Amino acid sequence: MTTVIKNGTIVTHDLTYKADVLIEGGKIAQIGPNLTGDTALDATGAYVMPGGIDPHVHLEMPFMGTYSTDDFESGTRAALAGGTTMVVDFCLPNQGESLLDAIKRWDNKSTRANCDYSFHMAVTWWGEQVFNDMKTVIEERGINTFKHFLAYKGALMVNDDELYSSFNRLSELGGIAMVHAENGDVVAELAAKLKAAGNTGPEAHAYSRPPQVEGEATNRAIMIADMAGVPLYVVHTSCEESHEAIRRARQQGKRVWGEPLIQHLTLDDSEYFNPDWDHAARRVMSPPFRNKQHQDSLWAGLQSGSLSVVATDHCAFTTEQKRYGVGDFTKIPNGTGGLEDRMPMLWTHGVETGRLTMNEFVAVTSTNIAKILNCYPRKGAIAVGADADIVVWDPAKTKTISASAQQSAIDYNVFEGKEVKGLPRFTLTRGQVAIHDGEVRTQEGHGQFVKRAGNGVTNRALSTWKDLTAPRPVQRTGIPATGV
Ligand code: URP
Ligand code: ZN
Ligand code: ZN
Ligand code: ZN
Repeated sequence: MTTVIKNGTIVTHDLTYKADVLIEGGKIAQIGPNLTGDTALDATGAYVMPGGIDPHVHLEMPFMGTYSTDDFESGTRAALAGGTTMVVDFCLPNQGESLLDAIKRWDNKSTRANCDYSFHMAVTWWGEQVFNDMKTVIEERGINTFKHFLAYKGALMVNDDELYSSFNRLSELGGIAMVHAENGDVVAELAAKLKAAGNTGPEAHAYSRPPQVEGEATNRAIMIADMAGVPLYVVHTSCEESHEAIRRARQQGKRVWGEPLIQHLTLDDSEYFNPDWDHAARRVMSPPFRNKQHQDSLWAGLQSGSLSVVATDHCAFTTEQKRYGVGDFTKIPNGTGGLEDRMPMLWTHGVETGRLTMNEFVAVTSTNIAKILNCYPRKGAIAVGADADIVVWDPAKTKTISASAQQSAIDYNVFEGKEVKGLPRFTLTRGQVAIHDGEVRTQEGHGQFVKRAGNGVTNRALSTWKDLTAPRPVQRTGIPATGV
């Protein structure tokens, strides 16, 4: 069986042109004029783009005494409805647990996925077993990205000695380091002080995590990564302080990437001052939403290339779960949804406003991500031989975002009431039509794990540079006699 996408305009990260796309066996078989297949999808007036890749999601994540409510089934269904065809989740080992045992738990959860997925590994503790497991995780399990939490003191946080050891190990193995960059010690102090002064509401969550804690931790991680000689990916970059550190590092030739979230680009900190407790608590996430100046900085970063990708950090809790924190903001589960809305919101606020070109849109939602994570061009490309993970994007289609019509299993949407222009007409996951003009045809369990090998292009460049500049004893000719 073959499928042909007809009469569309192909938009990739670097090209825009009219052509049909023929799909066979889940892959792109041919691109050109006047193609025919067993079934046809009409893309007249639409853009044929690589499906979105969300590099940062937490499905059924054990966190803050509960589990995030969207699992691999509802989460990937939401992804496909919004034009995203691959998600990357974070595998989180418990204290003392081997990385391989943690992967088994994630393997079990992910069997229900509707679209392809991959994992990042989190380094939540440090010891000989983690050091050894890292090699197996990269070489046998195909996970080349390792996240370190500099926040969540007493839970997921690692200290600088552990960070440096882990970064060095990743440098040896050809992995990529990732950080959640907020200074967890300072956040803990600020949170305790706020509570003692009677600030217990969700707005205090934002006060306890000012941009400085993010800027400090981003700078620290960049310097430690540079000393270890490892590429660094900074997740959920939300403010100018962190962006500035990334921008400066990149100008200096350091291999650092920044990932703003669609929430930080389009929602601001006024949400926390809403008189409705539920409204504010539903928007509690780390880092918190920021003011307009920080938003402008993030948009400028995407435009100039100092920030590389747009994610969601989809980690969805119900209102009931958020209410664990009534009377104590530190107990509100941290996280917001966005999987279904990332692409339409970025198109509406990016492409429709002229901030981003269509090609830049494809780069930051898909291609850059596939390149950094080392699964390009299998993913992130409209090219012969690539997986047919494709979104046929209708720029004229509109909707008002509403929880009542969403795929996510939670009872609200942080983008409620926002008008979007630009939505998927069809979403294909390895050639299978999952979204057909608003109709959901996803297939539970269709998703497959995407292996990503270590030693991608950036790692090879860095390790060559590291070898060339490594300390070497000087071979001297005239050595003076000693002890005379
Ligand atoms: O608040 C957030 N971001 N929750 C998810 C976990 C994380 O820090 O990424
Ligand atoms: Zn049809
Ligand atoms: Zn995080
Ligand atoms: Zn996250």
